[in-house]
Amino acid sequence: MGRLSGRIAMVTGGGRGIGQGISTVLAREGASIVIADIDLVNAERTAAELAAGGAATFVVHCDVSDAASAADAVSAAVSRFGRVDILVNNAGVVGSHLGAGATEDDWDVCYEVNVKGIWNMTRAAAPHFFESGGGRVVNIASIAGRKGTGGLPHYCASKAAAISITQSLAQELGPRNINVNAVCPGLLWTDMWRNLEGMIGANDTPEVVERRQIFERYLETNCPLRREQTPEDIGEAVAFLVSDAARNITGQSLNVDGGIEMN
Ligand SMILES: NC(=O)c1ccc[n+]([C@@H]2O[C@H](COP(=O)([O-])OP(=O)(O)OC[C@H]3O[C@@H](n4cnc5c(N)ncnc54)[C@H](O)[C@@H]3O)[C@@H](O)[C@H]2O)c1
Repeated sequence: MGRLSGRIAMVTGGGRGIGQGISTVLAREGASIVIADIDLVNAERTAAELAAGGAATFVVHCDVSDAASAADAVSAAVSRFGRVDILVNNAGVVGSHLGAGATEDDWDVCYEVNVKGIWNMTRAAAPHFFESGGGRVVNIASIAGRKGTGGLPHYCASKAAAISITQSLAQELGPRNINVNAVCPGLLWTDMWRNLEGMIGANDTPEVVERRQIFERYLETNCPLRREQTPEDIGEAVAFLVSDAARNITGQSLNVDGGIEMN
């Protein structure tokens, strides 16, 4: 029996990347998984993989930046499984441009998805948590929210806001037995970075292979453990925070970054 046996976990952006890793670890720990994603193709593929491993799964279309869509997705999950115990606000975007090239759209999308998305989803899930006597929320922020990075002010500011909203929600929902924490991933080689122009250090190399070299150089220079993180590393931290072992931890933001940031 896993640590999360019998629990219902909803993971936004669970179709690929870090969200897929989180869904995989929570399923391995015995949870039933609701994948709420704007991209149904990846969501269905990941759900099929989890189901093949024996997990109960449910896929629902969701745009976390839209309050009505968030509410519909939570309602659909509750209709399917009877309740939701765990909400992982993982869906996030980095925008399309770096530095001086960043547009108003880059700012808007980062705030709409990375900040308001957390609020929309948590607000939708809260009444169901109240009804069942409690719940667990984990927000996927970033070490980019710990310290600003040149070239990504919109993304870094939105992730600092994700850390802040984690504390506000923990204060507000704690008396209702709802723990709210954040995980701050370090560097993971996911589609998010592969799709961004340039990359860390505002390098303007267009080819993915060069991006990978920049990524590796960054780790070599800045990461004490000298290795990239994996989606499952983030999933393991989430699994701990939503487990009974973490019942008295709330309002915290845990770096999972090989030591890149130590505050
Ligand atoms: N990759 C990294 O190095 C890194 C580091 C720190 C933090 N993070 C954070 O981790 C989270 C996941 O990142 P990733 O690297 O797996 O990214 P990704 O782009 O590979 O995956 C993001 C997922 O979110 C979904 N999504 C995007 N917008 C959505 C919306 N409006 N509503 C619902 N779903 C939406 C996508 O369809 C996708 O499945 C993000 O919050 C990101 O900011 C990533």
